[in-house]
Amino acid sequence: MRQKIVAGNWKMNKTLQEGVQLAIEVDKLVAALKNNDVKVIIAPPFIHLTEVKKTVKSGISIAAQNCASEDSGAYTGEVSATMVKSTGAEYVIIGHSERRQYYNEGNKLLFKKTQLALTNGLIPIFCIGEVLAERELNKHFEVVKSQIVEGLFDLSVDDFKKVVVAYEPVWAIGTGKTASSDQAQEIHKFIRDTIATKYGQAVADGISILYGGSCKPSNAKELFAKPDVDGGLIGGAALVASDFIGIVTGF
Ligand code: PGA
Repeated sequence: MRQKIVAGNWKMNKTLQEGVQLAIEVDKLVAALKNNDVKVIIAPPFIHLTEVKKTVKSGISIAAQNCASEDSGAYTGEVSATMVKSTGAEYVIIGHSERRQYYNEGNKLLFKKTQLALTNGLIPIFCIGEVLAERELNKHFEVVKSQIVEGLFDLSVDDFKKVVVAYEPVWAIGTGKTASSDQAQEIHKFIRDTIATKYGQAVADGISILYGGSCKPSNAKELFAKPDVDGGLIGGAALVASDFIGIVTGF
């Protein structure tokens, strides 16, 4: 069985104090869940990582939203995978579309970040997804394929097995416009098939593929019911504890 995952990406929201408060609320709600088999992850800003890690007691894991493409040295303003790991975080989001779009992060650089994350014992949540124009030109399959091939396929099989993939159509992020569950299933299956061509079906079947893009309590159930949708990467709805938990209970 694949791991079911719901990860909350707080993006650049919440002061440290507000973030700790939100973590306390989410933690309480997760602790109260009965027979929960969903891995719950929260990804606050870098400076919150240590405090949020200390705050949660319910088995929630912590993720960073990014890490540097170099290990250490004179890279002012950057935060390395080693540093992220030292906070107690277990995951790191790599290649979020906002990083690709606003900070020009390409597949080659993202592969380097992924390798560094893995070397440091972090699990990468590797994001892929097409923009609206690509979807309209029916190029979304081609786009996600090249993101996977260039971003991940130079990993050894043992490293690849640790990766979580998040499919996030850029046109659905923060827009209130969600991919339909059929659209999500179609491309998640395509992603899994693409992985199988490189690493074999057994490995592909073990990889959790998350959906992201305006996922909320009202649509999570339908999305998560699809056979190749193993959970969600949640932005806006992760900023309200009850909404976030409403998604976690969507399985
Ligand atoms: P959203 O963001 O849920 O606000 O659309 C998702 C994401 O960017 O991970």
